[in-house]
Formats: sequence, C-alpha cells, structure tokens
Amino acid sequence: MEQTFIMIKPDGVQRGLVGEIISRFEKKGFTLRGLKFITVDSAFAEKHYADLSAKPFFSGLVEYIVSGPVVAMVWEGKNVVTTGRKIIGATNPAESAPGTIRGDFAIGRNVIHGSDSAENGRKEIALWFPEGVAEWQSSLHSWIYE
Ligand code: CMP
Repeated sequence: MEQTFIMIKPDGVQRGLVGEIISRFEKKGFTLRGLKFITVDSAFAEKHYADLSAKPFFSGLVEYIVSGPVVAMVWEGKNVVTTGRKIIGATNPAESAPGTIRGDFAIGRNVIHGSDSAENGRKEIALWFPEGVAEWQSSLHSWIYE
C-alpha cells in the first residue's frame, strides 16, 4: 500500500493546526503509520530539501524548517501521495484553493509539506523514520462492550 511523508511545519505547529491537519487525513480514511514531534537541525533540513539546494529560497527554507518543532508523519492508503497533495493544496499560499489545508490556513508560510511522488515518499520516510514505522491493523470494528 502506498505511503507518503507529511510534515506540519513550524508555522502549522505554532498556529495550533496539528489537530485540524491530522483530522483531515483521518477523515479521508488514511492510516497513520508514524508520528513524531521533533526539532531538526540545519544539516538534517538540508538533507530533506537537498533537491532544492540550488534554489534562491533554499537558505530561507532551511531557516524556516529549523525555527521550531515540526510534526513528522507517515500516512498510508490508496493514492495517498496524490490525494494527500490535493488535501494540502498549492505550494504558494496565495494560490491555494479554499477547502485545502493551505487554502484555508496558510498565511505567508505554507504550513505543511507532502511528498511529491511515491519514490520521494520512500526516501523521505527513510530519512525521518530510520527506525521504521508501525505495522498495525485497526481492530475498531471488532471491539465489543459487555
Ligand atoms: P514543500 O511542499 O515543503 O516543498 C518545497 C518547499 O519549498 C515548499 O513547500 C515551500 O515551503 C518552499 N518553496 C517552494 N517554492 C518557493 C518559492 N518560490 N519561494 C519560497 N519558498 C518556496
């Protein structure tokens, strides 16, 4: 089953959007496989965004990501990379559609990151969760109250 790496960035954490964002992925039926609350250093942020190292905004991006704790997550489900990016919305907060996370909440900074392909998802998950993620099956429907 497909997996993606999702990160609530420092502005998303500071603005109290963690619950709202997790809720949107849960409500769409995706399965949470990994979650950590973590502050990364510049070397780690540079590794995560290595593909963008030639961009003029690279150093500002790294500064932003290390400016506070982030919520790093692994979500799983059918088409989770593409659908996850639809839930997140366009990169530029000025262009993200209402109804998307960025469209509804992003001001200036863009609140959240999602892998742009299944392959990059695998790379990012390996970087952020070298210890692996949880293998679990929901038993919700078999619980019985006596
Ligand atoms: P993200 O989904 O984390 O992927 C790459 C990040 O680079 C993106 O979100 C933005 O935070 C940042 N980014 C992309 N394009 C620009 C830009 N033109 N100016 C500033 N930051 C950008």
